[in-house]
Amino acid sequence: MTRKALGLVSALALAAAMGLSACSTTTGGSAMTPPAIAPAPGPEAVDVHTHARPEIARVVDVALDLTADFNAKTLAGTATLDILAIPGANEIVLDIRDLDIQDVRDAAGQPLRYVVGDNDAVLGQPLTVYFPAFAANERRKITIRYSTRPNAAALQWLNPSQTAGGQKPYLFSQGQAILTRTWVPTQDSPGIRQTYSARITAPEDLTVVMSADHLTPNGERAAPHSEGGGMKTWRFRMDNPIPPYLIALGVGDIAFAPFDGRTGVWTEPSRLRAAQWELEPTAQMVTAAEKLYGPYRWGRYDLLVLPPSFPFGGMENPKLTFATPTIIAGDRSLVSLVAHELAHSWSGNLVTNATWNDFWLNEGFTVYFENRIMESVYGHDRAMQEQVLGWDSLQDTLKSLPAADTRLHLDLKGRDPDDGMNDIAYEKGALFLRTIERTVGRDRFDAWLRGYFDRNAYRPMTTAMFLEDIRDNLIKGDAALESQLQMDAWVYQPGLPSNAVAPVSHAFEPVDAAAVAFFKDKGPASAIPWSDWNTQQRQRFLGWRPEGLRTGADWLTNAQLADLERTLNLANEGNAELTFAWLQIALAHRYQPSVATAEKFLTSQGRRKFVLPLFQTLWNEGDWGRGNARRIYAEARPLYHPVTSGSVDQLVGRP
Ligand code: BES
Ligand code: ZN
Repeated sequence: MTRKALGLVSALALAAAMGLSACSTTTGGSAMTPPAIAPAPGPEAVDVHTHARPEIARVVDVALDLTADFNAKTLAGTATLDILAIPGANEIVLDIRDLDIQDVRDAAGQPLRYVVGDNDAVLGQPLTVYFPAFAANERRKITIRYSTRPNAAALQWLNPSQTAGGQKPYLFSQGQAILTRTWVPTQDSPGIRQTYSARITAPEDLTVVMSADHLTPNGERAAPHSEGGGMKTWRFRMDNPIPPYLIALGVGDIAFAPFDGRTGVWTEPSRLRAAQWELEPTAQMVTAAEKLYGPYRWGRYDLLVLPPSFPFGGMENPKLTFATPTIIAGDRSLVSLVAHELAHSWSGNLVTNATWNDFWLNEGFTVYFENRIMESVYGHDRAMQEQVLGWDSLQDTLKSLPAADTRLHLDLKGRDPDDGMNDIAYEKGALFLRTIERTVGRDRFDAWLRGYFDRNAYRPMTTAMFLEDIRDNLIKGDAALESQLQMDAWVYQPGLPSNAVAPVSHAFEPVDAAAVAFFKDKGPASAIPWSDWNTQQRQRFLGWRPEGLRTGADWLTNAQLADLERTLNLANEGNAELTFAWLQIALAHRYQPSVATAEKFLTSQGRRKFVLPLFQTLWNEGDWGRGNARRIYAEARPLYHPVTSGSVDQLVGRP
C-alpha cells in the first residue's frame, strides 16, 4: 500500500527525469483543494519535516547563482527552480529557514506573488509562490532572489584564524538532515529528488568545490572564470537527481591531490600531503565496493578534508565526501569512515530514505556495507573488531534510550530529525542485515542487496517498501524463513529480537584480559601490551567498564588514573578516538590533570560526536564539572559549527 502511496511522487520524479508530465487528469478548482488525480501519499510516506506538497507541484531542478560575501557572511543571488505540477496547480510550497527573500519572478521576468508563512522552530517557514494554473505536460521555471543570513544553520563562515593556513577565510555547508533550506529555497525533503547546477562567485584567491561536476563557462572541467573586482566564478552541474540534503558547497584555500584516475582529496595546502597519504586506500575501497554491489554511478569519488570545526565525522555529499580532519591519525587507523561515506553512494544517495523516520535505511545499510568494504580491503579480523565495537556501543544506547526510540522505524513528528541520529539506526540497522545474511547465506543475501540497489536506484524508500522488496525478491513465500527472520519485530519493535547474535573478535581476548588485570585486579599499567595493539584494540581497552556500572560512580583511584595516563602517554595521544575514550574515563573521575587535555581537545576540533558527550560527562560532575564545562565552552564555542554549538547550548547554555 505504501508503494502505491509513493507511486505518485516517484511517477512525477520519473516523468521529470524523462521530461514528461506524470499526470494527465485535469482539475478545475484551485490547488488549495487537492486535485482528484491520485491519493495523497499514505501516512508512512509523508515527510513530516517539509512544508512541500509534491503531489501538487514539485521542484525537479535547482540552478543557483550565488556570490559568497565573507565580510557580510552571506550567500546572495538567485535560485531558479524548474517545476513540474499537476494540471490546474497554481502554487508551489517550498521550505525556507532564515532566508531573506527579495522577489520571485517567472521565466519572463514578471514578478510572482508569494507568501512566507509562520515559522516552525524545527521546520522553518513555508514559502508559497502563486502562478497561473499549469496546463497538462507543462514545466515552468521560477527565479527567487534571496540572501542567506550570517547565522544560517547549514553554513559555517570561518575566520582565517580558524583554518590551518591562518591566512584566508573558509566557508562550508552541511545540509543533512533539514538544513539545506537555510541556504537554498527549495522543497527540502529526501523524497523529492532534484538535479542541480550552480554558478558560485567568490574571492579570487579561494577555490570553490561542490557535490557536483566542476565545469568551465563552456561546460568542460577546468579553471574558473575571472569576474574582475577580485572575484572569480565557478560553475558546477549535478545531472543525477539527488535529495536536497546532498547539495553541498566548500570555499577556501584548498588544493587537490589524486589517489588514482577517479579518486583524490581536497584540503588546505599545508595538510595535503598528510591527507593524501592517510586516505590513499580510498581508491581500493571504490573498487571493492563496486565488486560487492555494482558500479559506482557518480563519476569521480573525491574527499574534502575540512577544518577542525566540521561537526560530523563524515558527510556523504555525492562525488565529494566531506570529512573531519580528526581522521588524519597518521597511521590510517580511522579509514573505515571513508568506507562508510563511500558506501552511502549506494545506500542513501541512490536508494534514499523517503522520510527521516526511515533514516535506518540510509545508515543501517551503510554500516553493513562499510563493514563489507573493510572486510574485503583489510580482512575478516579487522571487520570483526569493528563489528564488536559497534555492538558494544549499541548495548549502551539500548540501555540509555526510552524503549520507543529503539525501534528502527521511527515516528519523529514534532521532533528534530537529529533525534534519530544514534546507534539504533546505525548499529541495530546493520545488525538486522547481518542477521538476514547469516540466516540466508552470504551469496543469496548479496544477490538480493545488489538487486535492491539496482531496482530502487534514484528512488525514495520507506521501511514498508523495503519489507515488500525483500519479501518479493529474497523470501519468496518461504514461511519457515519468514518466521525465522522476525523482520517485523526488527523494524517495528523496541530492543533486539531473539535471533540477534553478538559478534566475536578473537583479537579482543588479550585486550579483555589486560583490562581485567588493570581495571579490576588493580595491576600496573606497565603490564598493558599497548604497543602490540591496533587502534581498535586500544578503543576496546579504554571502553572497558565494570559490570553494571552506575554512571558517575568512581571505579578507579587517582593513582590508577595517573599510572594509566603516564604509561600510555594519554595526555599526548594524537588519535582523536583514543583521546575521546580516555577523557570519558578521566573526566568522570574528576581527574584534575585531564582538564587541560580536555580543554585542548575541545578547543581544537568541533566534531559533535566527541564534543557533546564530553560536555555531558563534565556536566554530570557537580560544580567541579559544570564550572569547567562553562569555562571551556566560552572559549570553544566560537570555533564550533551551528550544528555542534546548537546541541551544546541546550546542555551548558550560551556563554
Ligand atoms: N550521513 C551521516 C551524517 C549525518 C547524519 C549528518 C544525520 C546529519 C544528520 C554520515 O554518513 C555519518 O554517518 N557520519 C558518521 C561517521 C560514520 C563513520 C558513522 C559521523 O559523522 O560520525
Ligand atoms: Zn552515514
